[in-house]
Order: sequence, then C-alpha cells, then structure tokens
Amino acid sequence: MSDAPPIEPMPIEACGLVKRYGDIVAVDHVDLSVERGDVFGYLGPNGAGKTTSLRMLLGLIRPTAGAARLFGRDPIVDGARALDGVAGFVEGPRFYPYLSGRRNLRLLGDLDGGVPAARIDEVLDVVELRDRAKDRVGGYSHGMRQRLGIAGALLRDPRLLLLDEPATGLDPGGMRDMRELIKRLAADGITILLSSHILAEVEELCNRVAIIRTGRIIYEGRLDELLQSAGGGYLLRASDPERARAVLLAHGIDGVQVVERELRFQADAATVEAASVALGKAGIGISLLAPHTATLEELFLGMTEQAA
Ligand SMILES: Nc1ncnc2c1ncn2[C@@H]1O[C@H](COP(=O)(O)OP(=O)(O)O)[C@@H](O)[C@H]1O
Ligand SMILES: [Mg+2]
Repeated sequence: MSDAPPIEPMPIEACGLVKRYGDIVAVDHVDLSVERGDVFGYLGPNGAGKTTSLRMLLGLIRPTAGAARLFGRDPIVDGARALDGVAGFVEGPRFYPYLSGRRNLRLLGDLDGGVPAARIDEVLDVVELRDRAKDRVGGYSHGMRQRLGIAGALLRDPRLLLLDEPATGLDPGGMRDMRELIKRLAADGITILLSSHILAEVEELCNRVAIIRTGRIIYEGRLDELLQSAGGGYLLRASDPERARAVLLAHGIDGVQVVERELRFQADAATVEAASVALGKAGIGISLLAPHTATLEELFLGMTEQAA
C-alpha cells in the first residue's frame, strides 16, 4: 500500500500528431506535453501548423495519425467529455456583431446548459469589459473582441485554456492588456497554451515553449534556457564594431555575435556598465546599448547553425 496521491493526468499530452491535407503535411509528428501550471508558448511563423495543431487538440479535426489527450482523455475517442475543464478558440473568437457582449456571452452559456447572470458579470469583470457589456460587439476593437472571447471561454470554468494567437493584431496597449489578463488567469491556477508567431509577445508570459516550423517541432523546453542558448542579452551599436568587440572581450564578454554592424552578447548589468565606460575611454562611440531579445528568426538561425 502506498499513500502517494493519485497521479493527475497531464493537461495536454500529444503523441505523434500528424495532419495531412493532400500533399501538404500541415503537422508532422508533433509531440507536446503541457504540465499543470504551465503557461506554454506554441511558437512558429505563419503557416507552421499552429492552428492545425490546436484544432486537433480541441477535437475539431481528426489527426491523420497520432493522438492527443487532455487530462488523460482523447477528444476523438471520448468526444465532448474530453473537453471537460477545457476551453479556448482557434483563429479568433466569433460573435454576433449586432448583439451586445453580454447577450453573446449569454448565448454561449446557453450552449452549455445556461449560466447564471452573476457568472457572466464575473467573467466580464475578469476581462475588464463590464462597462462595455451592453454595447454591440460590432463596435468593439479587435482587442475587446479577443478579451470577450476569453470571457466566453471562462464561462466553462476551464482548468486548461487553449488560445490561438490571442495577441496577434493588437496595438501595444491591447497587447499589454492581453498579457496582464493571461498572467491573472495563470495566477488563478489555469494552465494555458497560447500560440504566437512573435517571440517577444510571449516571452514575458511563458515558462515553457515549443517551436514549430513547417509542421515539425524543432525545440521544446524551458524558455529561459532557449533564450540563453540563443545569445540574447544586449545589443550594441558602436562606431567601430571590431574594436568594440575587443573591448567587450577584455571585460570577459565572449561569444559576441556581429549582425550587420550590431553586436549581440550576454553579460550581467554590472559588466555591461563597466564595458560601456571602457568603450567611451577607447574613443568608441555608442549610438545604442540596450537589452535585446532574440526574435524567432534569430532563434531559427541559431538552431540551424548549431545543427550544421
Ligand atoms: N483545411 C486545410 N486545407 C488545406 N491546407 C490547410 C488547411 N488548414 C491548414 N492548411 C495548411 O497547413 C499549413 C499549416 O497551417 P496552419 O495550421 O493554419 O498554420 P499556422 O496556424 O501556424 O499559421 C499551411 O500550409 C496551411 O496552408
Ligand atoms: Mg494560425
């Protein structure tokens, strides 16, 4: 006999997912595991297979091969029951534009057998749309619609949320609101998978990521380790890049990449401060010195170089 608590099934476990459309292999043997409490970033350029993967996870389309389990249940085998505690949307939420936000939520709730008005108020509060709830969705901004989509998903009291590019197309303010909202939901204990084609959009949110490219996962793991291996850190634009590189090296900063006259390197803030003074003393002008996050494209470049 053991007193160990029962092992709770993982929120997402996908194994060998394949989706073929004729000659196109949209998703090619994708394995994914998302653990409880993860804010998991599913990253990849347009056309990489993110939406198709999410559709398979949500049981909206049938995989050509492989299987997905949400909390241990396969949406293809177990049907709607597999989506207990799961909510989300792919390619943006859909609403009736001529109805109010609140009315749209009520209709959505009716599909699940009805939701008390107080619960609708609660989810409207969470996404900060309560004061606009009586207005027609047709007049909402893109960001408001995305947030209403999340409100709709929250009506189901999910333990797992799947969001397909929730921040894409938002202006900087809308993006910040979306990030704050996702952080609040994660802090409330909801496990989240969100897709994006822009690394910077998700890096503040996610603990783990998978990167998909032409249907294949090329990285899965911790985001901090990925960024470290990619040599993010700082970006320096100097009047003499080669001499600047030597000065950095003299301060123990090695592994400096020079990309189009810009230097990228990793160092702690104190070392960077010391090096910047030395650059000035050496007569090297600095037009930019700033923290730098690798873009997806730079990560791809790094990975291809490492593989070569
Ligand atoms: N229903 C479909 N029929 C044919 N091809 C599709 C279909 N859905 C997606 N694809 C193709 O599969 C690939 C991946 O698409 P998608 O999953 O939408 O990528 P992402 O969401 O990463 O932008 C693309 O080449 C796309 O054209
Ligand atoms: Mg997509």
